[in-house]
Amino acid sequence: MILGHHIDLPLGIAPVAMQKMAHPDGEVGNARAAGVAGCIFVLSTLATTSLEDVAAAAPETCKWFQLYIYKDRALTESLVRRAENAGFKALVLTVDAPVFGQRRDDVRNKFSLPSHLSLANFHGELASGVVSEMGGSGLNEYVVSQFDATVTWQDIKWLKLLTHLPIVVKGVLTAEDAELAREFGCAGIIVSNHGGRQLDSTPATIEVLPEIVKAVGKDLVVMLDGGIREGNDILKALALGAQMVFLGRPSIWALACDGQRGVEQLLELLREDFKISMALTGCRTLADIQATMVVPESTYRRLK
Ligand SMILES: Cc1cc2nc3c(=O)[nH]c(=O)nc-3n(C[C@H](O)[C@H](O)[C@H](O)COP(=O)(O)O)c2cc1C
Repeated sequence: MILGHHIDLPLGIAPVAMQKMAHPDGEVGNARAAGVAGCIFVLSTLATTSLEDVAAAAPETCKWFQLYIYKDRALTESLVRRAENAGFKALVLTVDAPVFGQRRDDVRNKFSLPSHLSLANFHGELASGVVSEMGGSGLNEYVVSQFDATVTWQDIKWLKLLTHLPIVVKGVLTAEDAELAREFGCAGIIVSNHGGRQLDSTPATIEVLPEIVKAVGKDLVVMLDGGIREGNDILKALALGAQMVFLGRPSIWALACDGQRGVEQLLELLREDFKISMALTGCRTLADIQATMVVPESTYRRLK
């Protein structure tokens, strides 16, 4: 059970923007595949399918909505309302992107959203606005002009007044921030460095997980993303105290391969791989997975 919902696999699909760039099935393909596998799907604010369309196309899937806070707070509030009305079960507030990291490839390639696609949660200029005006990355220009870079923990209070949906903070990398998430009444956290796309030299999420679990694991649902590629990765994260993990890039690679079917296949492969990892470590149930199963490499060096 995660935030009151039964899941068949401790694995979900992380919010990834603009999924129709990978395949016409886009967000609907990922959401439906998550439903088939009994996994959670998190829809990005910057989706190329509107949250209402995703909800209508994947009614059985447990869906969470990832929120960026816009300078226009009325617009942000309307996203929250729409997510509630469409049946999304939690808000995932991404807190590691007040500005975007240096994405030099996006600048070099003058990243723009292809003209046949739009940011479907918005209308007008905000929907088609990921086009470079200044000869660099259109996405970066969009983020700088629209996202509120002044967001602080106080804004969680604002959000909690707006909604009864549980709030999950995504982008926590320290025990101190995890404790603040608890203090401000969040239901969960996703230990994430945004797939390494924001600040270079941040630690790997698996490395900081134990200190975070130690600090808040009894009070908050602690989840993790970043580098989950095989069953062993799921097992290690659970062993170190995560309740579930999320996939970013793999879900997009699978979508690009074969749309919804590709993602269904990916999730089945991971389910099988995870089952094998459990069997080979002697685990019959998730409760059998123990922290002692993960031994850092440095332990062996010390033994020499
Ligand atoms: C192309 C791409 C787009 C992303 N878009 C978003 C987004 O819109 N919102 C968000 O919170 N995280 C976004 N992320 C970060 C993912 O949610 C996740 O934290 C990360 O991809 C996990 O690492 P992994 O790719 O190694 O699995 C994006 C990641 C990628 C690769």
